[in-house]
Amino acid sequence: MESARSGMRLLELLFVGVKLYLYRLVHNSKENFNQRFAVKLRSTFESLGPVYTKLGQMLSMRPDYIDDVYCQEFELLLDSGRQIPREKMRRYLNRIASPSQFKLVQSLGDPIAVASISQVYQATLPSGEAVAIKVLRPGVTHMVKRDFKILRLLARFLGNKVGKVGKRHWIDLVAELERWLLEETDYLHEARNIELMRKDFEGYDNILIPQYYPDLSSKQILVMEWIDGHSMLDLIRMKRKEELPDFDFSLEEKFEEIIRDVAIKSLLRGYFHADAHPANIMITKEGKIALIDFGLIQFFSREVRKGTILFLLGITSNDIELIFKSAEMLGKENAQFNRDEVYEEISRHLYDYLDASAHDVSSTKILFSILKVCLEQGFQYPWSLVLYTRTAVNLDGQILRVHPGFSFSSYGRQYLLEVYLETLLEEHTSASHVIKMTEDVIDLVRDLPKNLKTIIEKMAKEKQP
Ligand SMILES: Nc1ncnc2c1ncn2[C@@H]1O[C@H](COP(=O)(O)OP(=O)(O)O)[C@@H](O)[C@H]1O
Ligand SMILES: [Mg+2]
Repeated sequence: MESARSGMRLLELLFVGVKLYLYRLVHNSKENFNQRFAVKLRSTFESLGPVYTKLGQMLSMRPDYIDDVYCQEFELLLDSGRQIPREKMRRYLNRIASPSQFKLVQSLGDPIAVASISQVYQATLPSGEAVAIKVLRPGVTHMVKRDFKILRLLARFLGNKVGKVGKRHWIDLVAELERWLLEETDYLHEARNIELMRKDFEGYDNILIPQYYPDLSSKQILVMEWIDGHSMLDLIRMKRKEELPDFDFSLEEKFEEIIRDVAIKSLLRGYFHADAHPANIMITKEGKIALIDFGLIQFFSREVRKGTILFLLGITSNDIELIFKSAEMLGKENAQFNRDEVYEEISRHLYDYLDASAHDVSSTKILFSILKVCLEQGFQYPWSLVLYTRTAVNLDGQILRVHPGFSFSSYGRQYLLEVYLETLLEEHTSASHVIKMTEDVIDLVRDLPKNLKTIIEKMAKEKQP
């Protein structure tokens, strides 16, 4: 029965593929073809369900891979999906609600957001607190499992014929994607992630992680503190139309905070949000950055964090030796590479990057080109780094829209260095030891403002027993 369903699904995918191909053939020469085809593709992804919607979401953040017309259309997949008819949803809610949730879900009106795997509602608790209620779409887990069954088969049979990597890599990739998606469909898992992230961001007054209500939450219904603000996606759209309200803060400055405190400093803390697309970041009226949607968070081991910092420091300061060092630290396979050849290739990629703006040189492109060079030399990176790259790509896509003059290389370098030194301090207690360890980044340390060196020495002394 189950394999018959998978067979039907495979046929459906083939049929959709042929339809898209014919559409292209017939309309190719028409005016605005790309715009029309983008709409067609977006609605196809939407109708194929959560796995393909996720794929479209990922693509929406890759203006370096696909035309902006497609990116803008696929952006719609980030925060709008097909709304489930009210009556069907009511029956479903009555079925899945626990006794403690029953009364609350009875009061729900129309959703405030319809996303790929959930519908989100606003409600008020008897105590008067405003809450967001996230409800898993009916049948999502089943759909994900069914689609991955097909993708697993494709990886097994076509793995050796597609792309530059072998079958084993494709099978691993599909398994990993499936794990990500299945984790996203269990809200008790998301609730645990919320707890971890709240702890992780303790002491960051500018970052808000909504609390959840354990007694009112379950696998399919998550009740959380309501965030009064706009999603970054809405803000980007307002900016595009030049309709941004007058805030006491600028969007550019909020983005710099996100890069510093969410992306770079996660290399110090350990956990990071692995799905940081613009519908999952909100800005409150007071200018706080709220992160939501913790279906997927990832932990970095200390070793991987250190390797990643060195990798990013190498890129942002055009120091190829640091990239080599990080590759040695992170690569699982002992690759034999031609140092001179790699050196030359990487320096060619980095040639224009130092202090360049996001508009002029894409950080995503640089990141991928260099990772590709390392992969081609036989290095295999840990999954946590792959996920971190996904976060970086997501943020880079937003920067291009909000803050095109931003230079990750010059802004990021100083904070990466700070984070690197703090990581060393965590491991070693004496100031002299830390300073000795900074030999790796000695040229960069030389550029550090004097007071930062004094701070580090002071911190190290404080750490001494
Ligand atoms: N706590 C909240 N407060 C206010 N709005 C929220 C909250 N949680 C989610 N939303 C809104 O609902 C949308 C979808 O929620 P999200 O958790 O991202 O679901 P999904 O996992 O399906 O993407 C968000 O983009 C946001 O607009
Ligand atoms: Mg989301």
